[in-house]
Amino acid sequence: GKMGRAFVYVILGGGVAAGYAALEFVKKGVSHGELCIISDEPVAPYERPALSKGFLLPEAAARLPSFHTCVGANEERLTPKWYKEHGIELVLGTGVKSADVKRKTLLTTTGETISYKILIVATGARALKLEEFGVTGSDAGNVCYLRDIADANRLVDVMQSCPGGNAVVIGGGYIGMECAASLVINKINVTMVFPEEHCMARLFTSKIANYYEEYYKSRGVNFIKGTVLSSFDFDSNGKVTAVNLRDGSTLSVDMVVVGIGIRPNTGLFEGQLTLEKGGIKVNGMLQSSNSSVYAIGDVAAFPVKAVGETRRLEHVDSARKSARHVVSAIMEPNKTREFDYLPFFYSRIFTLSWQFYGDNVGEVVYYGDMSGSTFGAYWVSKDHLVGAFLEGGTKEEYEAIAKATRLRPVIEDLTELERQGLRFAVTV
Ligand code: FDA
Ligand code: NAD
Repeated sequence: GKMGRAFVYVILGGGVAAGYAALEFVKKGVSHGELCIISDEPVAPYERPALSKGFLLPEAAARLPSFHTCVGANEERLTPKWYKEHGIELVLGTGVKSADVKRKTLLTTTGETISYKILIVATGARALKLEEFGVTGSDAGNVCYLRDIADANRLVDVMQSCPGGNAVVIGGGYIGMECAASLVINKINVTMVFPEEHCMARLFTSKIANYYEEYYKSRGVNFIKGTVLSSFDFDSNGKVTAVNLRDGSTLSVDMVVVGIGIRPNTGLFEGQLTLEKGGIKVNGMLQSSNSSVYAIGDVAAFPVKAVGETRRLEHVDSARKSARHVVSAIMEPNKTREFDYLPFFYSRIFTLSWQFYGDNVGEVVYYGDMSGSTFGAYWVSKDHLVGAFLEGGTKEEYEAIAKATRLRPVIEDLTELERQGLRFAVTV
């Protein structure tokens, strides 16, 4: 390729982690011309969580530039102008098609070779396709995925093309739950289909899941659980008209939304960096098996001290905090300790809102009123509190369960913990 530019720092990928890293670089005094961000998306880094929430609202929907990073953490909003003013080279709409970690170069789709002294891989993940589960039809005009702005725009267009219509949502994870809620708010009839016995199976117990499923049912959502789709029927325009399920039933549809999980974008580094748990393995300084290459966000598998093992976390808080940490590790190595991250997940659906901290292993102790609007659960493993969930809490209560989980207090008596409920976290 043509000889191209050279930078001290290159961030590969222009998503959430890239945006938060850029802000931290500026706070730590990066010089003009030292930092470059390369992204195949046509827009500057933005808060991806907005795409399944504010972006899909029927009125006053969120649109760029309102949700560029780093508004999600009440920080500055980084518009393209901001990058320019701080001398950060933003190379947008440009994919990296190969990387050479020995030569420290990246080759872009425009044929440019960009070199670095230090590379931060922040390539995130891609949505899994139905084809990977043996079903064809992902390209149909009314089948939607949701990972980036282009997907979100398409989803809005498809939704608007069938007012009052019927949607099938495939998958009972985060995308499925948040999109189902947004579709209902847009007055689309929703049937959710997923293979597990209950929604959010990776995190929720059946009791917690039941609370949300009952709420969704009260909003008109229909659940078909324990089965997967086997094929689509199409009309002469190639649009999906019906979804055939493995249990033999058929649902006629105007649109389909698919959220069946993700795969980290590690392809450029296979055979060059050590991988683990599907991601790029990094140490407590977020440094990979090549000392010039770091990884953050969805693509990184890092030691999570709080749970005592290496994990890959697919959530925005982890992307933001690993981004801040990596810049500190690079710019101030002597002042930076190992990343010590407490896993934090949350969601907002309809008027509901929950947070979870820590790890969902061990015995579960429920608290609060599951027929009301505030309830939660603790996870106790090897006599320690290791995880906490809360629906409908106040800011102070969420802070309390976060703090309690981080402290990992000894729990001698589960009945006593149950009796104290939320008060345990507030007073620990
Ligand atoms: P992210 O995916 O944000 O960015 C990766 C970037 O790299 C993209 O811009 C991509 O195009 C680019 N890229 C990849 N390969 C490239 C290549 N070869 N060349 C150039 N560029 C390349 N989490 C949460 O905690 N709460 C929430 O409410 C939500 N909500 C939510 C909604 C939706 C719709 C999605 C899709 C995701 C969420 N998430 C979430 C998850 C959260 O958004 C996610 O964890 C972060 O975006 C991860 O940030 P990264 O920067 O690692 O990847
Ligand atoms: P997910 O891992 O949360 O859920 C995947 C779901 O796919 C499973 O729950 C299961 O029901 C379903 N599934 C698995 N195999 C299937 C099959 N063969 N057929 C049909 N369904 C099948 O992934 P997602 O919901 O696609 O979300 C994608 C990414 O976006 C994740 O990284 C997630 O963390 C992130 N996200 C997070 C939030 C949040 O944190 N609030 C919101 C939206 C998206």
